[in-house]
Amino acid sequence: MAPVVIILLGPPGAGKGTQAKNLVDKYGIAHISTGDALRAARAAGTELGKQVAAIMDSGGLVSDELVLGIVRERLKQPDTAKGFILDGFPRTIAQAEGLDAILRQLDRKVTRIVDIQVADAVVRGRLTGRRSCGKCGAPYHLEFSPPKVDGVCDKCGSTAALVQRADDMAEKVDARLVAYHQVTELLAGYYKQGGLLAAIDGIGNMDDVFARVVKAIEG
Ligand code: AP5
Ligand code: MG
Repeated sequence: MAPVVIILLGPPGAGKGTQAKNLVDKYGIAHISTGDALRAARAAGTELGKQVAAIMDSGGLVSDELVLGIVRERLKQPDTAKGFILDGFPRTIAQAEGLDAILRQLDRKVTRIVDIQVADAVVRGRLTGRRSCGKCGAPYHLEFSPPKVDGVCDKCGSTAALVQRADDMAEKVDARLVAYHQVTELLAGYYKQGGLLAAIDGIGNMDDVFARVVKAIEG
């Protein structure tokens, strides 16, 4: 496959991270998640991590400048040459414009934008039940995908307690949804002109949603 630049749009909990991982497995391209990069900076205790902690925990958006800096640096890595998926970025019109400028410098272009649509009520259920292994980070959902043996991680066998993301508490999810509807949703208008935007239904079995994502990419 020629190098692709795929943007996954959608509300918090739409399944962007889940489907990005599936795309990595299928196409062997790089996965760039600004949320993951920011959480890694926090876990490492970097200056950047300290700067963004309060904003992330409130459910608000980190500054465009910081996020564009992360993406600019990440795109210098050689693993992005084969193509990449942007998950959770861009999230504002300014970030979309910044991305266009970065890609122009790299002589690359966005090849597909997949907007994964999921209603707020469904998102709330997904995020408030989301957990991960306290040791290896393997993802779980208390109702939809719990560990096979209660209290034991399927992946690493750890009996460490499952952990919840600080911004997955109900009131934080509401704040993230407000940011999505007020700011990020405007990106659908920004990308409508280019004919690259495909909206898909993000509700249903994860494999079915993945089939829709692949269809949107391959046509
Ligand atoms: P980020 O990490 O990007 O979070 P998000 O967009 O809020 O989305 P999530 O990661 O929560 O959900 P997802 O769509 O990846 O869904 P997932 O696959 O996990 O951002 C976090 C914060 O960082 C932001 O609030 C902001 O502060 C900051 N930030 C990040 N990027 C930024 C940017 N560009 N600009 C400014 N600030 C930025 O799935 C969710 C759950 O549902 C899982 O439990 C999963 O197992 C389950 N699930 C998935 N698909 C299905 C399905 N089909 N059926 C049932 N369950 C499903
Ligand atoms: Mg995610």
